[in-house]
Formats: sequence, C-alpha cells, structure tokens
Amino acid sequence: MNICVVGVGYVGLVTGTCFAEFGNNVVCIDNDEDKIRRLNQGQVPIYEPGLEEMVTKNSREGRLTFTTDLKEGLKDALVTFIAVGTPEGEDGSADLKYVWEVARSIGETMEDYKVVVTKSTVPVGTGQVVEDLINENQKKHIEFDVVSNPEFLREGSAIEDFMRPDRVVIGARNERAKAIMRDLYRPLYLIETPFVIADIETAELVKYASNAFLATKISFINEMANICELTGANVNVVSKGMGLDGRIGPKFLHAGAGFGGSCFPKDTAAIAKLAKKEGYTFQIVESVMEVNARQRAIMTQKIKDAMDGDVADKNIACLGLAFKPNTDDMREAPATEILNSLISEGANVKAYDPAAMEQAKKVMPGVEMCKDSYDTAQDADCLVLMTEWNQFRNLDWARLKSVMKGLVVVDLRNIYPPRLVSEEGFDYFSVGRPNG
Ligand code: UDX
Repeated sequence: MNICVVGVGYVGLVTGTCFAEFGNNVVCIDNDEDKIRRLNQGQVPIYEPGLEEMVTKNSREGRLTFTTDLKEGLKDALVTFIAVGTPEGEDGSADLKYVWEVARSIGETMEDYKVVVTKSTVPVGTGQVVEDLINENQKKHIEFDVVSNPEFLREGSAIEDFMRPDRVVIGARNERAKAIMRDLYRPLYLIETPFVIADIETAELVKYASNAFLATKISFINEMANICELTGANVNVVSKGMGLDGRIGPKFLHAGAGFGGSCFPKDTAAIAKLAKKEGYTFQIVESVMEVNARQRAIMTQKIKDAMDGDVADKNIACLGLAFKPNTDDMREAPATEILNSLISEGANVKAYDPAAMEQAKKVMPGVEMCKDSYDTAQDADCLVLMTEWNQFRNLDWARLKSVMKGLVVVDLRNIYPPRLVSEEGFDYFSVGRPNG
C-alpha cells in the first residue's frame, strides 16, 4: 500500500518507518529541510533504540523516502497520516494550527480518493474539522474518509510498541475506511492484536482517557509514597500488594519524582481544558496535575532535608536528567525544576546523563555537565539519582565513597535497596521508603 506520513517528529518517523518495515511504500514529509536532508543520509534526529537501523534498511530497500514536497508526497498515497506536533497552547489546550495547515493542503492538492488519518493526539471533534477543511479547500469534489488512529508509543520502546501493541484503536465513519485501515494493520492480526473499532469522536477520546488514567496511577502512588513516609511504611511493598489485584495491575505504580515527557503533562492539561470548555470540571485529572507539580517541590525539599535544610554552597551530583531512561527528551523532565531550584538556593550542581545532556544544557544552563557518574560525583556532598538508566543500577559504591566529599545519597526513583547503600556507609534517602 502507498502511504504518506506528514510530520516527521517522533510519532511520524516511528509510524512511517514501521509501516515501511511491514512492506508498504512510505513517503515521510516535513517542511524542515535540514531534517529531511539528514534523514535522506540515514541520520535520525531522535534517540530511539533500533530506529536508525530500521530507517537505513527501509530507505536502502526503497520503501521509505523523505521529502519536503507535500504535493509530491501525497500524490500516490492511499492513506495519509497527519502526525504533526500538537503543542500545548497558552491556555493548556492542544494547539492544532499544524493539523489545520496539513488538512488544508491535503484538500488543495488531492487528486484521487484518500483516507486521511489523524495520528497526533487531538481533542474530540478534530476529525470533523479536518473533514470540513479538506472539503472547503478542494478545487473539485473528490471523495475521502477521515479516520482517527491514536498512537500509544512510549519513548524508548516505540518500535516494540508499534510492532506488538496492546491494541489498535480505529475511529471511522464508514466500512470503506475501516477496511483499508484493517488491511494496513493486517500484519498485527498474526499476533492476535485486539482492534477497537469506534466512531471518530470515541477513538479520539480513548487516547486522552488512557494517558490521563496512567498519569492518575502515577500521582496516586506518589501520594501514597508521601503517606508512607509519614507512617514509616514502604511504598514499594504497598505498590506490589495493590498491583497483584488483577483489577488494579502492577504497572505505572512506581513512585518517584513525578511524570514528565511530551505526553502526560500535555494530555492531562488538554483533557482538563476540553472538559472545562464543555462546562465540566475534570476533578480527578486536575488533582493529578497538582499532585505532579507538588511532587517536584517535595523532591527538592527531600534533597534539602538530606543536606540538613540548606544547600547553599553544597556540591550536588545528579545522575540522569531525561524525563525517563532510554531517551534524550528533556520535555517536562522533573530534573529541570528540581536542579534549577537547588541552584537558585546556592547549590553547585553537576550532572551526567547518557543521552540528554545536549538537550539539558538548554534548560539548565547553571548545571555543569560531566563525562560519567564518577566524574560527576567528584567532591559531591550529595549524590542524587534522578533518572533510572540501567548503567546507574550497579554503581561502584567504594569508588564513589573515595571521590565524594559527603556521604549522602538521595534516590528519587527507588532503584537501590536501602540496606545495601547504607551498609556501604552512606546516608540513604528514597521515595516513600524508610531511610537506610
Ligand atoms: C506515554 C504513554 O505511556 C504512551 O502510551 C503515550 O502514547 C505517550 O505517553 P512516554 O511519555 O514515552 O509514553 O513515557 P512513559 O514510559 O509512559 O512514562 C511517562 C512518565 O511517567 C515518565 O516521566 C516516567 O518516569 C513516569 N512514570 C512512569 C512514573 O513516574 N512511574 C511509573 O510507574 C511509570
């Protein structure tokens, strides 16, 4: 099948590449000339395990091409995915200007029947507006169908998530569009992937509902962690005990510094805003956002408390900066707020992240970036574990002890057994667990 993907951001690039891997001919379009030029040379602009290899392979085999020419890209495509960014607007709702722009261009340039799919996370009602815009901009009437097909890719495991999704959600108005979408996802039938076929508005809402619910689980367990600290309980065990109940499930119950990234903060804000627009207050989700903001402040306070209440002139070493491991993404990363507040209170902060330091420099200019964990820990009064990259899971504690000035470890992701770190001679603090 001939496919075109408009918007070569994270979602667009992964989607286009994976559909090419399924044997389709895919043209990816973006107006960023530099990005397209580099992609044509096999250079992938984002850090995503396995992606570069897959882009190179499919480009070489001729199934995946990149262009800035929208008209040319659209020409032969039966299915066009709109995967452009939907940044958070000033009022918290998603800013859809790029989606509208693409819809207009599709209307202006299309010459035969097309299925136009929104892949970006868009508010309920967007499919309808896309349909209207295409109609308004057509020079002569040509049939098309609009489909909503939200993505559920996680950064760091996006290819695996695409190839083995928990479900595929398709919202369409008629059987013709549903059949084409089913055909496109046929390789997933072999692994018995469940398909949720719905109307467009329902499919649009599934994405927000899923992300808001996952964010709710995280804020819930973070509040439980705070209660555990007050009562001397252990949140990891509470989480395990809860998660074994099949109705609750074990995932997304890991207490920590709060959620970040490009999706949860934006999507919770957008669904709350969408509800408000309809005259309804989405009480739970508004609290989820407040709890998440408060959790960052609590983490900053935790580090200060570990330094006896004052971080002025203290050397803080931070391991990990990205909002989660296996990505260089610093969007809404808790590290930004936490480290910048420590700096504003007079701390000297050094940090190391295996992938995110280039991005991090832009949002935390006061942090000195280092070359590895031990270089970061040199002369530190306190070591903070911010992002749980695998390489931080087995630190050489004796070596750390020899390079650090103080002996305090604050683990904001609960990755070390408290007893192990304290037996190494450190004062150990984590989230919602008795101190070691
Ligand atoms: C998320 C959704 O999982 C995905 O389905 C959607 O399409 C996009 O948003 P992503 O933002 O890549 O994906 O990251 P995810 O792994 O879901 O983590 C989000 C944030 O929650 C991270 O900051 C992570 O550290 C935090 N988190 C996650 C927790 O604090 N505790 C948990 O138990 C799980």
